[in-house]
Amino acid sequence: MKFLITAGPTREPIDPVRYISNRSSGKMGYAIAQAALDAGHEVVLISGPVTLPAPPRAQMIRVTTADEMYDAVHANIAGIDIAVLCAAVADFKPAAFASRKIKKREGIPVIELVPTRDILASLGALKAKNFLLAGFAAETDDLEKNAREKLEKKQCDVVIANDVSAPGLGFESDENVITIFLPDQSSQVLPRATKRGLANDLVKILCALQ
Ligand code: CTP
Repeated sequence: MKFLITAGPTREPIDPVRYISNRSSGKMGYAIAQAALDAGHEVVLISGPVTLPAPPRAQMIRVTTADEMYDAVHANIAGIDIAVLCAAVADFKPAAFASRKIKKREGIPVIELVPTRDILASLGALKAKNFLLAGFAAETDDLEKNAREKLEKKQCDVVIANDVSAPGLGFESDENVITIFLPDQSSQVLPRATKRGLANDLVKILCALQ
């Protein structure tokens, strides 16, 4: 199988020294990429800025902004069997980029934000979709309700949800608990484990669904 995986945050520049971003270490996406490679699959890994080493044998595409990630995903989706969108894409970007550093003496800036394009929803909307589409939902409350809403709204085949308010889990942590939601209303909890352990199980589950 051929996987396309997005991972890490995006950065939306305000001026040459400042940006808007999201909390994301990239660990979950990179763990899924490594698990897929170890199981003998091909991987295109489209990553925002993270400090993790590239998994050997992955086709690595490094991007910075949500727009670059959108373009890289669409340029590489042909021939993909399983797309796993794990990246913490910024939902908003500055309407304008200040080419010179905004100086404090100019006062507190008012930064107008505009929405970024939703990469997951754009793949869900593709008419000729012949790949399995998995999205992530990082929630602090109403996990099931929010995850099921995302599944339907973004036309995914799978939503992988995690509770980011749980202490010691999610974000920069090496461990996670995830729940997999499917359109037939079923769900499966993968109990607390290392992100690498969860990634191995997830790769098996996704391959069985494809
Ligand atoms: N996603 C994406 N492109 C975006 C935003 C999100 O591909 N511009 C993907 C993420 O990679 C993840 C899923 O969508 O798979 C997360 O959905 P998102 O709408 O970002 O969740 P929240 O920001 O938590 O949404 P809400 O504010 O509705 O909770």
